[in-house]
Amino acid sequence: MTRTPVNVTVTGAAGQIGYALLFRIASGHLLGADVPVKLRLLEIPQGMKAAEGTAMELDDCAFPLLKGIDIFDDPNKGFEGANVALLVGARPRTAGMERGDLLAANGGIFKPQGQAINAHAADDIKVLVVGNPANTNALIAQASAPDVPAERFTAMTRLDHNRAISQLAKKTGADVTDIKRLTIWGNHSATQYPDIFHAEIAGKNAAEVVSDQAWLADTFIPTVAKRGAAIIDARGASSAASAANAAIDHVHTWVNGTAEGDWTSMGIPSDGSYGVPAGLISSFPVTCKDGKYEIVQGLDINEFSRTRIDASVQELSEERDAVRELGLI
Ligand code: NAD
Ligand code: LMR
Repeated sequence: MTRTPVNVTVTGAAGQIGYALLFRIASGHLLGADVPVKLRLLEIPQGMKAAEGTAMELDDCAFPLLKGIDIFDDPNKGFEGANVALLVGARPRTAGMERGDLLAANGGIFKPQGQAINAHAADDIKVLVVGNPANTNALIAQASAPDVPAERFTAMTRLDHNRAISQLAKKTGADVTDIKRLTIWGNHSATQYPDIFHAEIAGKNAAEVVSDQAWLADTFIPTVAKRGAAIIDARGASSAASAANAAIDHVHTWVNGTAEGDWTSMGIPSDGSYGVPAGLISSFPVTCKDGKYEIVQGLDINEFSRTRIDASVQELSEERDAVRELGLI
């Protein structure tokens, strides 16, 4: 039986994450090795020529699963019939820009994109926001798409999740595949909290295996939380291939499910669980099944974790208040 191709819209397609992302989507890593895709690339007018170049290269790969590529600079066309939307293009912070300016500039991108998703995307649309500040950009897009179920708007903390697994594996000498049930809580920012208290390493509690509170507080947490800045410092550009890889992981897990006994981290609209105010788009431990996610319930949150979760959630509340004042939500 021939399957109908899934329409995948990627914004910021001519950027560095776009370049690392599109070839993997087209080769089946996003949705599965038997799922044909049609790509819809959305750029701003200045990015159109470079996006056309990337499309030429995609053609040149003759990917069996790639059933079409279209390029747009109009969000209303870019999101037409989209089943999956990866919102990567965003306005980076430039010299002299205050946080309010950054939020306002991104409002100018994510509000019209949310409206276009509302008007033109497929009924089963799933949205992942990668462009920073990812959680609050997701909130803006969601608020502009009142007819789309709120839970379809998610923000990426999978890169932080993968970074935390890798750091923990290095510290303990474990294989990354031995590490399960790690959680990123809060914002995709330096306030995020990577939590190992419920994580397992080859079936043993990770905090007990590590048993070094100083390493946890002074090395592990800041290394994971500030890894984005460390990559910018080393590469002279923000993470691209690892960010694209995490975007692939996020959507693949959302669509195809988490493994039995494990969970992942996703920025999702809070339902009030764990004291995170309802409606904030915050990272939680989630399991996925049949294309839906659920927050893992009933975890004991100790004092060490509580303080750190609260600090990151407080930052999210402030970002929400700022975009509310700007009339973006
Ligand atoms: P980049 O500057 O290389 O590319 C961004 C692209 O977006 C450009 O081609 C630009 O023309 C395009 N763009 C800008 N406004 C647009 C709009 N309104 N519609 C469509 N396209 C638009 O940046 P990059 O390195 O690819 O990073 C993209 C974003 O991802 C940044 O905001 C970055 O901070 C963020 N990021 C997030 C994570 C995460 O873990 N959540 C990780 C890494 C990077
Ligand atoms: C990352 O975590 O690598 C990025 O979000 C950093 C950035 O500011 O682009």
